[in-house]
Amino acid sequence: MAFKITYSIQNADLTELHKEFEAALSTNRSKLGQEYPSWVAGQAVKSGELLQSQNPANLKETLGSFHMLPTSHIDKTFEAAKKAQIQWGKTPWQERVKLIRKAADNISARRMEFSAWMSLEVGKNRLEALGDVEEAADLLRYYAGLMEEHKGYLREMGSLSPNEKAISILRPYGVFVVIAPFNFPIALSAGMSGGALLGGNAVILKPSQETPLCGQLLYEALRDAGLPDGLFQLVQGKGSSLGKALVAHPACDGVVFTGSKEVGMEIYHSFSKNFVKPCFLELGGKNAAFVCSSADIKKAVEGSVRSAFGLTGQKCSALSRLFVHESLKKPFIDALLERAKLVKVGNPTERDTFVGPVINEAAYKRFRTAVEETKKTGTILFGGEDIRARAPFDTGLFVQPTIVEVNSSARVFKDELFSPFLALTTFTNLEDAVRLASQSEYGLTSGIYSADPKEIDLFMHNMEAGILYANRESGATTGAWPGVQAFCGWKGSGSTGKGGCGPYYVEQFMREQSQTRVS
Ligand code: UN1
Repeated sequence: MAFKITYSIQNADLTELHKEFEAALSTNRSKLGQEYPSWVAGQAVKSGELLQSQNPANLKETLGSFHMLPTSHIDKTFEAAKKAQIQWGKTPWQERVKLIRKAADNISARRMEFSAWMSLEVGKNRLEALGDVEEAADLLRYYAGLMEEHKGYLREMGSLSPNEKAISILRPYGVFVVIAPFNFPIALSAGMSGGALLGGNAVILKPSQETPLCGQLLYEALRDAGLPDGLFQLVQGKGSSLGKALVAHPACDGVVFTGSKEVGMEIYHSFSKNFVKPCFLELGGKNAAFVCSSADIKKAVEGSVRSAFGLTGQKCSALSRLFVHESLKKPFIDALLERAKLVKVGNPTERDTFVGPVINEAAYKRFRTAVEETKKTGTILFGGEDIRARAPFDTGLFVQPTIVEVNSSARVFKDELFSPFLALTTFTNLEDAVRLASQSEYGLTSGIYSADPKEIDLFMHNMEAGILYANRESGATTGAWPGVQAFCGWKGSGSTGKGGCGPYYVEQFMREQSQTRVS
């Protein structure tokens, strides 16, 4: 295939790709129901306590059973990690880069198989699943390239006397625990782990309890690249028990977490005890877009629908607040609703489906509560029906993409809902609207549609968010890609001020050491 699947792909002939996806899906289906271990020091660990991976589009379908890591094995896991890390930290960076690139190639080589599994496990549509797998490989390649560009982060420094030579070198912290979310289960796990590994650290990966199979697949890709035993370990279990125990372990030198603000803040507050340890958090969003009076309505509608409903609204980058200029209200809403009617909800493994199910019962309830609440406080413009009550949507956790008009003080205009729920309001003055939108405690992504460069400048200068887009038809607020859009959460959306996908990510996994030698 001549081109790469990214989240921005819109019009392309994908006939071949669909055939390959269908073949992979049918092979995967012949392997349903297998058991998988956790992996410690390269060895399979079978505890007998199983985590089930279910298909959210068909709750009767179990994809596999996963042996959770028993508490008795946690010490052993850290010991194996530390042992491997000591060697890895001494391994020349060029060798680390080579192995990580090999892992990226392994992911690419199995991309159809991985994305077909992901579609079954997460409920992602075909292109979003393929995008996730391609992004995983590209993240590893981009981060490996950064290591190379910076020559392993070793710099010669100045000298105070002729016989003195000083260098600055970035060196690993030790063992990182990576806690990954369900929504980009391969890309985000690969990105967080890849950054840590390239920096010379060991990684203990705990995938989301909703997506253990995607964790297993990533593990295979890295293991098969030839990473030494113990350097990258996969432990299955629940966040509330295993996740907590890993973070609390004294041998944990750093944590990388992507997920909800609530859990992230809990980790942050509990993590460092005697001294400050690195704790990288990528949290939620309540992302806004502005449709100005000069906007191209068609582009704005397309970008809004793609960002609000892609991956069933379960992206931290999803569009959830739409500010529409008062003068455009009627034509914009008319066009938006026409486009929303074309969004196909259904089985995500089918070719034409755009919106699959939500991930679990809690997400389904959160969505229903938002709808019921809005019936009292605002106007439902589109959707809102409880489609799960009827066929063909009664097999899984399906919800109807919904667009509402509310006052900006409504709860659904503030809280992250992580579902296909778009709240719209109007504005007359852009500066005021940007200020209002910036009052959110989140600051992840934002978009604007305008033909006026002054309005775009105003937005770029004043919007308090880390990832800004103007006039993007492929997504108002979504679709960041490694090496293109650094994905940096501000305020409640992230802790580091340096984003994944971006040029400053890898160096955060290392600490600086100054070495001076006098001859
Ligand atoms: C997330 O939504 O959890 O820009 C992070 C995007 C994706 C976001 C990934 N790369 O839409």
